[in-house]
Amino acid sequence: MNRVYISEVARHESEEVTLKGWLYNLRSSGKILFPQIRDGSGIIQGVVVRAEAAPEVWSALESLPQESSIMVSGKIRKEPRAPGGFEIDISGVEVVQTAEPYPITKKEHGTEFLMDHRHLWLRSRRQHAILRVRHEVIRAVRDYFDDRGFVLCDTPIFTPAACEGTTTLFEVNYFEDTKAYLTQSGQLYNEATAAAFGKTYCFGPTFRAEKSKTRRHLTEFWMVEPEVAYATLDDIMKLAEDFLTSIVARVLDRRREELKVLERDTSRLEKVAPPFPRLQYDEAVRTLHEAGMPFEWGGDFGAPDETYLSEKYEKPVIVHRFPAKVKAFYMAPDEARPELALGADVLAPEGYGEVIGGGERIASLDLLRKRIAEHSLPEEAFDWYLDLRRYGSVPHGGFGMGIERCVAWICALEHIRETIPFPRMLYRLKP
Ligand code: 4AD
Ligand code: MG
Repeated sequence: MNRVYISEVARHESEEVTLKGWLYNLRSSGKILFPQIRDGSGIIQGVVVRAEAAPEVWSALESLPQESSIMVSGKIRKEPRAPGGFEIDISGVEVVQTAEPYPITKKEHGTEFLMDHRHLWLRSRRQHAILRVRHEVIRAVRDYFDDRGFVLCDTPIFTPAACEGTTTLFEVNYFEDTKAYLTQSGQLYNEATAAAFGKTYCFGPTFRAEKSKTRRHLTEFWMVEPEVAYATLDDIMKLAEDFLTSIVARVLDRRREELKVLERDTSRLEKVAPPFPRLQYDEAVRTLHEAGMPFEWGGDFGAPDETYLSEKYEKPVIVHRFPAKVKAFYMAPDEARPELALGADVLAPEGYGEVIGGGERIASLDLLRKRIAEHSLPEEAFDWYLDLRRYGSVPHGGFGMGIERCVAWICALEHIRETIPFPRMLYRLKP
């Protein structure tokens, strides 16, 4: 019989088909069984009427445990009251494996329990919705850069030195006598590829030994990082704004159903359009002070500061020109006020905080050497990076967006852990 996916049943109305999947849920009225079948592409309700069905069909399904794998055959029927608009009148069933009692049931489970069973939790409707949004975000990211002449140049995961500060480095043994670090960012390599190709991006897993337990931090996350030769801070802020707008629009366009499952208030996302408000660090600090927040000029924003700032605006807000002291060694200084760095963070609204960080890089060889020394970084590890300032140095910049932060905001999730199939956190390495 014709095997179809549940996502395609609309094209098979009144046809006899076979579905291959798992038993998602089973209700019974005594006279009628209503098994819900899922196959990864969707969920459909089946109907078996005792008085009409073959006895072996009834008995196979009657007390079948949740998540048993089954192949069912039957006729697809339009049913306006059903969630997907269709049901299947089951005439045949083959049980592939009878599942053991399934640990995740209808009752409320604690988060730790669900995280311990993440490999099974992925089968639920809510996780499907989130991870499909994630997939859409990733496709939108790639299309955005691919359609605009950026060349994908993937960067290494084993690296010889820190990019984003030494406190969050994961160290690994790289054969005898050599230490390597898991990459925190592909940026330094992007600067080399941007000098080669003009506009490039990298997209891959990045690692931070974050020792704090927050709802925004993973130790392994996926970051997309564009880098553009001859770009100034203003160009980078414009790029970030246009990029983020296009990602949100794409999800609204293609993942309405998933956002509905998540009960996401999409009117908030509809407001994401250029221009995003731009706030100098100085103004941001003033805003915090006006709200009575105890913040000292010169520091980096903590989670409560970011939350406050990003709740204040309907759109994402760009904060720029931070004190150079709290930012990475490679950030170009503002000529008008050299104590400030030409960096920018994009804070997502609704309290989600930083989703994008980037800015303009130092183009001068002398200044870059000075900063490497000031940050007590080993110059030998950066000799190749310094070459980029020796051979045709130009102003340039870029940014990084953490996919999981972006998905958490778009889906309006309380915690970042659900945005990646198998999250890695301070106390979570399994499954
Ligand atoms: O602001 P960050 O540290 O910037 C960089 O790494 C730059 N080198 C990027 C560049 O200019 N090419 O990180 C960029 C983004 C953050 O805005 C956030 O979205 C995400 O990466 N991020 C994290 N996401 C999840 N868990 C963590 N521990 C994260 N740390 C950063
Ligand atoms: Mg940052």
